Amino acid sequence: MATIRDVSRESGLSTGTISKALSTPEKVSPKNLARVEAAIKKLNYKPNMLSQKFRKKTSNTIVVLVPDIANLFFAKVISGIETVAQKEGFSVLLGDTKDSIEREKEFVSMVETKLADGIINLRPYKDGDALLPKEGIISVNASSCENTPGATVRIDNVQASQKVVEYLISLGHKRIGVISGLADNPHTVDRLKGYKKALSNFDIEYDADLIVEGDFNYWSGLSAAETFTRMADIPTAVFCMNDQMAIAAMKGFTDKGLKVPDDMSVTGFDDMNVSRYCTPTLTTVAQPAEKIGEKSAELLFELLSGIKPKVTEHILPYEFVIRESTSAPK
Ligand code: RIB
Repeated sequence: MATIRDVSRESGLSTGTISKALSTPEKVSPKNLARVEAAIKKLNYKPNMLSQKFRKKTSNTIVVLVPDIANLFFAKVISGIETVAQKEGFSVLLGDTKDSIEREKEFVSMVETKLADGIINLRPYKDGDALLPKEGIISVNASSCENTPGATVRIDNVQASQKVVEYLISLGHKRIGVISGLADNPHTVDRLKGYKKALSNFDIEYDADLIVEGDFNYWSGLSAAETFTRMADIPTAVFCMNDQMAIAAMKGFTDKGLKVPDDMSVTGFDDMNVSRYCTPTLTTVAQPAEKIGEKSAELLFELLSGIKPKVTEHILPYEFVIRESTSAPK
């Protein structure tokens, strides 16, 4: 394998000039730059990126903290981040935190020790969060909620949820259940706010018994559906706070002999690819997951380059998609 000394010999320039041409080409004359390039090409020289990174004091790496890598919503956000990072010449290091603050701390310390340059956090910010945003750590919160400090990218979860529930009301549903995420998850808080707003706009009384707590995973949707079927006064529709729980809930209702949507309308949130192919297809909120990823990465790179962004809170548009899982009550 060719070394920097071989390039120096081939071009007739010093090793110092070769490294300068690689790290700060603007400081090398066009004539010498051309000689370096020709030698590199001829010898197929691959510069040692690691030592260059140390010299430049940058890792060319960003960390993405993912609370649940198995949730395909996050996969799409990551795909958007990758697209932008690749263009910027950065690698993306996935930090699958499994919702553990201890694991998050380990990844934050990678930035503190300069093994990575910045962080995109896909876990929504919780009030009083001790971890991020943090002084000296460049970070963006993607898929955040209302009142998130620092640089954020999100949709309006309150408004989107309100829209879904108002649609169910417009179909004639009055007893509308909810399969929520964990009660202290900020997405749960925002989405429940939207549900309550919709009820109150139509003078429907809020009934806490109709809220069944899930955790955004499939199994919790299934178990929540069973809980609903055991109720004396079963709701006619259920607003699920994500697609995973909605798809599992549809199975739960069907297993118990209820037809979706005839006996039970079901709605989701995210619009995962599978939601278009399940039976029945799922009425849901389409979050612009890839765009959320792209925008977060663009924002992070702006911050990394030292530019103070004009806008630090980006609220992206979503779409409400009506499919087969909802109808008027029988
Ligand atoms: O954290 C889980 C959920 O929050 C995802 O399914 C998506 O809806 C995100 O916003």
